[in-house]
Amino acid sequence: MVDQTLLPAKYKLIECSSIECLCEAISSLRVRGAPAIGAAGGFGIALAGVLSHARSMEALINELKQAGDMIISTRPTAVNLAWAVNRVLNATMDAYNLESIRDIVLHEALAIADEDAKLNKKIGINGAKLLKDGDMVMTYCNAGRLACVDWGTALGVIRSAVEMGKEIQVIACETRPLNQGGRITTLELMEDKIPVTLITDSMSAHVMRCKKVDCVIVGADRITQDAVFNKIGTYTLSIVANEHDIPFYVAAPVSTFDFINMENDIEIELRNPDEMRFMAGTQIAPLDVNVYNPAFDATPMGYVSALITENGIFKPPLLLEEVTLNH
Ligand code: MRU
Repeated sequence: MVDQTLLPAKYKLIECSSIECLCEAISSLRVRGAPAIGAAGGFGIALAGVLSHARSMEALINELKQAGDMIISTRPTAVNLAWAVNRVLNATMDAYNLESIRDIVLHEALAIADEDAKLNKKIGINGAKLLKDGDMVMTYCNAGRLACVDWGTALGVIRSAVEMGKEIQVIACETRPLNQGGRITTLELMEDKIPVTLITDSMSAHVMRCKKVDCVIVGADRITQDAVFNKIGTYTLSIVANEHDIPFYVAAPVSTFDFINMENDIEIELRNPDEMRFMAGTQIAPLDVNVYNPAFDATPMGYVSALITENGIFKPPLLLEEVTLNH
């Protein structure tokens, strides 16, 4: 996988040949973005299968479950991680011997990765209908190909609109503290020659008020019936967008929806305080300052104009049967 912590300065591929290495890569955001960590988690189970010396089916499945618990515990908020790990584990129900377990988990992990790229294309085509030629789109964090397996969710919508011949300009918010917008979204869009302007997060209200912003499109880490969990700062953008009558869209695959829990059931990941005390190794705050560093926030569904999925575009309130129905 690409080590995303080094972007854009360095493009380095890393290989994980142990579960510990994979868990470190997920928790340190070398691989990040809800669909990408889901795919990585799925491959983690396949890796655990290859590494295991278990001599019975029961022992191997137990080892895979232990690996799954370790992987899932790295990041609690994005539902895709647990969803993918559990999908690969559940596929072992069809196994008939030790070797078939290893084949099945690898096959299922590959299927998740392949599907993700295809679903993002569908999300893109569905969402592109909401964009007009000449639109200015604001986005947050990175919901592009690096956050997924390919194409992207929020950036996938923009890419598909451009592919359809529409001229789209993008405003990318920096996304403190780890700057996924400034580092990765800008890089992806510039690689695709899609015009992008970088702003700091604190400029978003001013820009929405004074410049022509036609809509905001973000990705999601988990969507409950009452809220959208996404990178910290998304909630602020949703309020500002609503205040200025700017549509606020969320693009995500159906696997990001969680119809079991509600907002209050979800744990918001708290990250290392040093992410705010240092930037690229340079101290930017007193070493002993008290820090609060939640990685995600919840945007109430009332602020969401529409959800863009591979199954179509949905306006809240969400109905399980509608969203999950395969069109
Ligand atoms: O902490 P990160 O960088 O993994 O957070 C990522 C986001 O919040 C993305 O917007 C979200 O996962 C959607 S990615 C298609």
